[in-house]
Amino acid sequence: MHHFQTRNGEMHCEGVPLRRIARRVGTPVYVYSHATLSHHYKVFDAAFASMPHVICYSMKANSNGSVIRSFTNLGSGVDIVSGGELARALAAGAPPGKIVYSGVGKKVWEIEAALRRGILMFNVESREELEAIDAVAGRMRKRAPISIRVNPDVDPKTHPYISTGLKKNKFGIHIGQAVKDYEWAARRKHIEVVGVDCHIGSQLTDVAPFVDAAERVRSLVDRLLDMGLRIRLVDIGGGLGIRYNDELPPHPKQYADAVVKAFRGLPVTLVLEPGRVLVGNAGVLVTEVLYTKPIPAPDGKGRKYFFIVDAAMNDLARPSLYGSYHAILPVGKAPRGKVTADVVGPICESGDFLARDRAMPPYAAGDLLAVMSAGAYGFSMSSNYNTRPRAAEVMVSGSRFEIVRERETVRDVFRDERTASFLMQGRRRKS
Ligand code: LLP
Repeated sequence: MHHFQTRNGEMHCEGVPLRRIARRVGTPVYVYSHATLSHHYKVFDAAFASMPHVICYSMKANSNGSVIRSFTNLGSGVDIVSGGELARALAAGAPPGKIVYSGVGKKVWEIEAALRRGILMFNVESREELEAIDAVAGRMRKRAPISIRVNPDVDPKTHPYISTGLKKNKFGIHIGQAVKDYEWAARRKHIEVVGVDCHIGSQLTDVAPFVDAAERVRSLVDRLLDMGLRIRLVDIGGGLGIRYNDELPPHPKQYADAVVKAFRGLPVTLVLEPGRVLVGNAGVLVTEVLYTKPIPAPDGKGRKYFFIVDAAMNDLARPSLYGSYHAILPVGKAPRGKVTADVVGPICESGDFLARDRAMPPYAAGDLLAVMSAGAYGFSMSSNYNTRPRAAEVMVSGSRFEIVRERETVRDVFRDERTASFLMQGRRRKS
């Protein structure tokens, strides 16, 4: 469910025509629907009502402060993966006691910052990281709350770049070895074992892998409780998929029921780290067609078109990086007919495309297009490649819209560069 609908031939975000935003703010621009964000959060939260739980929004999906605050205002915590995310989560009102910190490469300053703020727990991914956290906490005279991220060796059947719960992936400690590390951790003075964590991948469209992983985690939790460890948090990560094209992902309720079933009866609070399912369909990327270019179709039959738009792989990397599908819809009335086209950006790579070989109306320069389902891993993965300033971000609520991140300027992009002095000296000597 989302609030991007076409009325009178114009696509709206809630009560605001996207064309009005494009005119005022320019393109490319990310537009988020606040009503959709809230709705998704509430549905997800309600789905887990039968068990104590904390939702820690996985902010890597979309790190805009207003997006994070949309959730923290509803009681959400945040799943972070860096010291940078910690700072942004706190700035957006996240209570430190609802922050979980995952990731395989935490640095000392990041561990210190998280300990100083008193986060809910570190999800620890290796024995060496456990040792590092113990040492830092010791120096700070604190006890670090930890869970071990276990790798349950389950195939999430998603894109290989976003599968994380297989033995061959860099994530977590193999579930078979975890008991040893828990025993070690439990003896450390500056570590407090509080939970078990697992995350198997992203954009999962089937509950079966979640159930498999949950059952394996449940057996481990039973064993750890038997050993006398005080496990009170079970974090099952994120990963629930959304519909981009014709996928049929489970409803949050089906997902929640399956997970809750695995942990029923345990005296634990579930921690959930949803990202994409909360924000994916709450955002679109609006872009303008700059030029169109026909070429003879590669199969020799008729023509194919390039629609060259002002958004590119630096704005939305997913199609180039994973071959992901994003629906592309007209913001205004579409011209009649259908042609085969690639929607491409201005970047100097053939890998720079938003859609390939898609049947779509014969758009013309000046048309506005909405790249759908761009709320997750859109802006947050954007870059300045080709010295392209990053897009503006706008949030809509009802009939209002506000810029929630200004478009970068070209100057912003290279403001922090310094010319090496030895390059300048030569010039000075000459002059
Ligand atoms: N928790 C952990 C430990 C994670 O690594 C992730 C995502 C999440 C939670 C949230 O997963 P979600 O609910 O959003 O599926 N850039 C890729 C997705 C990368 C996911 C990385 N980890 C994409 O655009 O599809």
